[in-house]
Amino acid sequence: LSFAIEEHPAPLAANARAEKLVSPGFGRVFTDHMVSIRYTEGEGWHDAKVTARVPLMLDPATAVLHYAQEIFEGLKAYRTPEGGAALFRPEMNARRFADSATRLAMAPLPEELFLESCRRLVSIDRDWIPESEGGSLYLRPFMIASEAFLGVKPSSEYLYLCIASSVGAYFKGGPTSVTLWISDEFTRSAPGGTGAAKCGGNYAASLQAQAEAIREGCDQVVFLDAVERRWIEELGGMNTFFVFDDGTLQTPPLGGTILPGVTRDSLLTLAADQGMTVREEPYAIDQWEADARSGRLREAFACGTAAVVTPIGRVRGRDRDFTIGNGGPGLLTEQLRTQLTDIQRCTAPDPHGWVE
Ligand code: COI
Repeated sequence: LSFAIEEHPAPLAANARAEKLVSPGFGRVFTDHMVSIRYTEGEGWHDAKVTARVPLMLDPATAVLHYAQEIFEGLKAYRTPEGGAALFRPEMNARRFADSATRLAMAPLPEELFLESCRRLVSIDRDWIPESEGGSLYLRPFMIASEAFLGVKPSSEYLYLCIASSVGAYFKGGPTSVTLWISDEFTRSAPGGTGAAKCGGNYAASLQAQAEAIREGCDQVVFLDAVERRWIEELGGMNTFFVFDDGTLQTPPLGGTILPGVTRDSLLTLAADQGMTVREEPYAIDQWEADARSGRLREAFACGTAAVVTPIGRVRGRDRDFTIGNGGPGLLTEQLRTQLTDIQRCTAPDPHGWVE
C-alpha cells in the first residue's frame, strides 16, 4: 500500500511554531499533518494518505460514537544530537495496537503500515519536535469503528489516524514526586476485561476515580485489583515500580488486567542488564504501607510513554497516608530515568537496538 502525500497548503509559520514549542505542556499543541488509512470489509486497507490535519466529518450513527469501539497508541519521536528524529521501539506499539484491535473485535492494522504511518508523520512534521530539554513529539495513532450502524456488532469499516503533538512533561511540576490516591470504590479492569488493551473505554472508566484523586489533592489514582481489592494494579494511565533496600526492582505482573507498557518492559530490561534483581510479582497495598513505614521499600515510581519515569513521594487513601523514602525523587529512580532517556535521545549507546 502506498501513501499519497498532500502537503499542508498553509503550514504554520516558523516563528509561530517556535512560540508554541517554548513550553508546550502535554497534548495541546498539534502539528500540521496527519495520516489516515481506511478499512472496508472485503476491500481491506486502502486510501493511505498524509494530509493537512483537519476536523473529521462523521455520520451521527458512526459506531464508535455509540459503542466505543476504539483503540489508540502513544509513542514519541525524539530530537537526536545531530538534529535527526528517533523513534523508540515503535514495533512494540505496532504489535500492541494489533493486539488491542483483536480484543476490541476490530480489523488489525498490519504492523508495517502502522510503522510506516509513524515514520511518514515524523518525517513531514519533524520541525515540530521541541528543542527544549524533555521535549518530544508524541505520536497518537488511533482507530475508530467508522460504519454508520446502530446494531451492536463489530463494525465493517474502520478509520485509522495518526496525529502528532509537541509535548513537554506530562505532570505540570516536571519530574518531581507525585502523590497517589488509592481508589477503594472503583476498579480499572477485571479478569477477562479489556485492561491489557489500549482502548479509550479503559481511560473513560478511570476518569471518575482520577477526578476523586484530584479533589483529594493528589496527582494520580492508583487502582487495586477487582477481585480481592488488595493488589496494586496500575495508575490512571501508567505502570508502577517499587525499589527495595536490597536493590531489587518489582512491578505487578501482566495478567490481562494491566497494560503491557513499553516503558515498563524497557526498564525491566535495563535494570536486569545492570545486574539488579527484577521481579514481576503482585504487591499488596498493606505490604506497600508496611514496607514504606519500615524502610524496606526505598523508592517507588510511575512510568509510561507520557509520564516517562515519575517518582511517587506519597500515597494516600481513605484510611492511609504514607511517605516513600523521604518523599523526594529516589536515586535509583533518577538513574533509571536518565539511562532510559539517554538511549531515547541517542546520547548513550543503544545495546538493544531500540531506537530507529
Ligand atoms: C502514554 O503514556 O502514552 C499514555 O497513553 C498514557 C496517557 C495518560 C497519556
